[in-house]
Amino acid sequence: MLSVRDLTVSLGPEHAALDIVDGVSFGLAKGEILGLVGESGCGKSMTSLAVMGLLPQPGPRVRAGQVMLDGCDVTRLQPWQRVEAGHGRMAMIFQEPMTSLNPVRRIGDQIAEAVRVHEGISGAAALSRARELLELVRMPDPQMQLSAYPHQLSGGQRQRVMIAIALACRPQVLIADEPTTALDVTIQVQILGLLRELCNRLDMAILFITHDMGVIAQLADRVSVMYAGRIVETASVDGLFKRPAHHYTSGLMDCMPSRNPSARRLPTISGQPPAPGRLAAGCVFASRCVAVRDLCRTEAPSRAEVSQGHEVLCAFPLNGGGPS
Ligand SMILES: Nc1ncnc2c1ncn2[C@@H]1O[C@H](COP(=O)(O)OP(=O)(O)OP(=O)(O)O)[C@@H](O)[C@H]1O
Ligand code: SF4
Ligand SMILES: [Mg+2]
Repeated sequence: MLSVRDLTVSLGPEHAALDIVDGVSFGLAKGEILGLVGESGCGKSMTSLAVMGLLPQPGPRVRAGQVMLDGCDVTRLQPWQRVEAGHGRMAMIFQEPMTSLNPVRRIGDQIAEAVRVHEGISGAAALSRARELLELVRMPDPQMQLSAYPHQLSGGQRQRVMIAIALACRPQVLIADEPTTALDVTIQVQILGLLRELCNRLDMAILFITHDMGVIAQLADRVSVMYAGRIVETASVDGLFKRPAHHYTSGLMDCMPSRNPSARRLPTISGQPPAPGRLAAGCVFASRCVAVRDLCRTEAPSRAEVSQGHEVLCAFPLNGGGPS
């Protein structure tokens, strides 16, 4: 459904380009949820905005690579050009719905506007479709909520509205950038459950961005781990959690809080990710890696398949690179 190949997003002029996303590749099948995980600043949002054609302007630009949506190259098309060309069936939701919703317009009107743009219907027909969309996202009392204003809804309900607006274009791919980070844990579980249900019911693919390995374990089918603008490991969720191959992935897992009462202090990965433009030669993780060797500091590792569908960017992977 979606195939991203060697996507590179850069800042600055061509002769001194600073790559903030560097050669990212992944694929997404119908009905599949791919988690994209990594710590703050590693390039998750820039990757997703580049895939959507929504990079902030002026600023970062796609310098190289391809974004293929259902067989069509949409890499250099603006969102409205994609809609005009009939390739607009990709939608996105963000962390804080209040920054996307208009505070002085009723929920029904805001969903109906998206319906009008994508389906060419207006008035009562668009409002009726808006109600259907609210039912689809399991909004309690959808008829009444059509006339509510955003401030009258809870955080979880507002995120449901955003998902309803996203569904107005009948997306083949939904990109969710930390959509549950601002919600409390019980509401987060409900929204994750809703996304899984929609993915199955609508045969939609979801790219789910988070810094939370726990959310990945709960929701995703496959996962790509990002570090310093690159994907350093991709595997099925099962494979990744059972046999992480990259030392960064394993470090992230060690940082997950557990209910083990004997664990006194939560481990951390010491050091900071390198800033774009300050990458040393060799492996980008070398300055923080517990297993670093001399070779890692001079030679960039190449991508290797440690088992079927499990790829890692490390010269000395964990678990001997054995089958996951
Ligand atoms: N508008 C912008 N202009 C220039 N650089 C930017 C812009 N937005 C982000 N960056 C830089 O791009 C890099 C990747 O940022 P990005 O927002 O994609 O990270 P992220 O993984 O989404 O982090 P977070 O988990 O904090 O959301 C960072 O170094 C950041 O400083
Ligand atoms: S290549 Fe070397 S420094 Fe990089 S993750 Fe692998 S072992 Fe660590
Ligand atoms: Mg982000």
